[in-house]
Amino acid sequence: MSTDAVHLTAGGVSVIIAADAGTMPYVAYWGRGLGELSDAELQQIAQDAHRQWAVSTPDLPVPVGVLPEARQGWFSIPGVAGHRHGAVPFAAFARVTPLLASGRSLEVTGIDTAAALEVTLHLELFDSGLLRTRASLRNDGVDEYTVGGIDVTMPVPPRATEILDFSGRHNGERRPQRAVVVDGTHLRENRRGRTGPDAVTLLAAGEPGFTEERGEVWASHVGWSGNQRSWLHRGNSGTAHLGGGELLAEGEVPLLAGEEYTSPWVYFTYGDGLDAASARIHDMLRARPGHPPIGRPITLNTWEAVYFDHAIAPLIELADAASEIGVERFVLDDGWFSGRRHDRAGLGDWFEDADVWPHGLGPLVDHVRSRGMQFGLWFEPEMTNPDSELARQHPDWILSPIDRDAPLARQQLVVNIAHPEAFAYIAERLIDIITGHRIDYVKWDHNRDLVEPVDRLTGRAGVHRQTHATYRLMRTVREACPWLEIESCSAGGGRIDLGIVDVVDRFWSSDSNDPLERQRIQRGTSLLMPVEMLGAHVGAHVAHVTGRAASMTFRAVTALVGSFGIEWDLREATPAERDELAGWITVVKRLRPLIERGRQHRLQTEPQLVAQAIVAADGGHAVATIAAIDSPHHLPGGHLRITGLDPERTYRIERVLIDGAADPTASRRQPLWWSDTLEFSGRVLAEIGLGLPTLRPQEAGLVEFTVVS
Ligand code: GLA
Repeated sequence: MSTDAVHLTAGGVSVIIAADAGTMPYVAYWGRGLGELSDAELQQIAQDAHRQWAVSTPDLPVPVGVLPEARQGWFSIPGVAGHRHGAVPFAAFARVTPLLASGRSLEVTGIDTAAALEVTLHLELFDSGLLRTRASLRNDGVDEYTVGGIDVTMPVPPRATEILDFSGRHNGERRPQRAVVVDGTHLRENRRGRTGPDAVTLLAAGEPGFTEERGEVWASHVGWSGNQRSWLHRGNSGTAHLGGGELLAEGEVPLLAGEEYTSPWVYFTYGDGLDAASARIHDMLRARPGHPPIGRPITLNTWEAVYFDHAIAPLIELADAASEIGVERFVLDDGWFSGRRHDRAGLGDWFEDADVWPHGLGPLVDHVRSRGMQFGLWFEPEMTNPDSELARQHPDWILSPIDRDAPLARQQLVVNIAHPEAFAYIAERLIDIITGHRIDYVKWDHNRDLVEPVDRLTGRAGVHRQTHATYRLMRTVREACPWLEIESCSAGGGRIDLGIVDVVDRFWSSDSNDPLERQRIQRGTSLLMPVEMLGAHVGAHVAHVTGRAASMTFRAVTALVGSFGIEWDLREATPAERDELAGWITVVKRLRPLIERGRQHRLQTEPQLVAQAIVAADGGHAVATIAAIDSPHHLPGGHLRITGLDPERTYRIERVLIDGAADPTASRRQPLWWSDTLEFSGRVLAEIGLGLPTLRPQEAGLVEFTVVS
């Protein structure tokens, strides 16, 4: 049999893509880098994928494609699904282009003459070893073809027997959940119309007991902010496949003659340990020319300080307090626009409220600028309240069935921004306000799920077009305001994904500013997004969401592993608290080049602790944060191994700031490094580690490692 094969390799990962004569490609291998391969080895690996199957399976074994087809003996979610008025339901493509890589990318086209379809599969391996793939489908017939979906897949070896993915809720985003791989399909479907607080984030399959530090793991992520599915299917052959794609409602994407549908990129990452798999995503993002530059501005957001209670005098006072302690960006949250005195009215009426802002936002913006800070503003462009001029005047713009509105959520409805007039109106409003005040930053919110999302013009399901329209709206606003940064917020961390990441600069990870909750939320979220993109704020002493009190150290250490900010009414902070916070801001400013580009190692330690090290690319500098989220099971406990340092170099270890330093009872015997500046090699730190400090629940600390030789 004639089989073509291509070996793509980068960043310690190999992918072998192969295709038999006239057929679309399959992946013969994806995993740890294989080094140089001879042509003979490559051929043999590709051929070996044609394994003899059991009796009563297809006589000619065909490997499962990146776009799997039923005729390949694939009895799960098909690569390409759809129909032409009910006909041609099983697409099968004959390859019409050679299997040739250009650099580390590949584009392969196939046609199904009977179905009158053409498909082009794209595959790309980044320098970091992260792989992504998607496909475009063109209707070459004369009548309408209804797209059912495009799912792409990658094989995972049988030794990956454990699944990790994420779920969550508002104020409790990205909770890890584990399962055992069994024959059948582990399927996560999202029909919320947004990424969601319960987003899969990463669907990982790995060796039993894999951790952040070790154990081979293969993971996927669908880079899309609308409906989607992620799955792992293991049939009775023993080989599992990770797959995913956009989830389309019936009739949502009709293709007229010559029209094309392109599926979202699905990302695949491999690593020995989750940290290694995660770092490939971070490295890809950081290598983008538009990635947020080092020195993420220290931000103050007004939400938990004043909520809807807007008035210029207290906000000026707040801005002054912020600038005095070193804040660099002041963000005015919800409540500034027409009729928005509470969450039951105003969304959609993007005009400065004449009662609250008789002179417009100008005086506040000018004051903030005069204090040397940037000015940011909150919008929720895809939403409207029934009690708004927008909703009253344009019922046809609402994204819900014509005969009934969707059930309200947070007193609001969704605007169908794929409606050209709605899009034009909202784009004009945003651009007018942003350019009028030369606003630096927009917190772009999206507070509800899309329930019964029906386009009132066409009667068709509208999440696909809404999601594209959101990306387009963000692009349109950015093109008109090239200086602008955008933060993606969705009732906290409900829209964090590798689709929207192309058009935003920061994510709001969660509405919970309780550091204890945040330690867990940020750990999960940071597997996908590098910490400089994850907003993390020091809240009030007593967290608004949970009512739990936390020390400044615990709050600041938690926010430090992120894009640092404050969400607290500083006017009520005591002078001592302001000084302490100012001290932390100085620390953050000093350390942010390291934090924003260092590699994150999520340390394995006792269950009551959450700890991580961030290590500079050259290994010369690192910090570790240690946070106690519960009381210890054992005392004094073991050691905290610091991974990721250079084993051959010696580091000076300094306790920067840590709770419990001034222990009133003086009963705690802390390890040696606590009071003395010690020096250890990276090897000793990785193998033995630091003796655990005795921390009470909700105490935290920061340790710095500097190379001395
Ligand atoms: C959402 C956001 C919050 C805040 C409010 C304002 O809940 O997640 O941070 O902006 O909206 O209404």
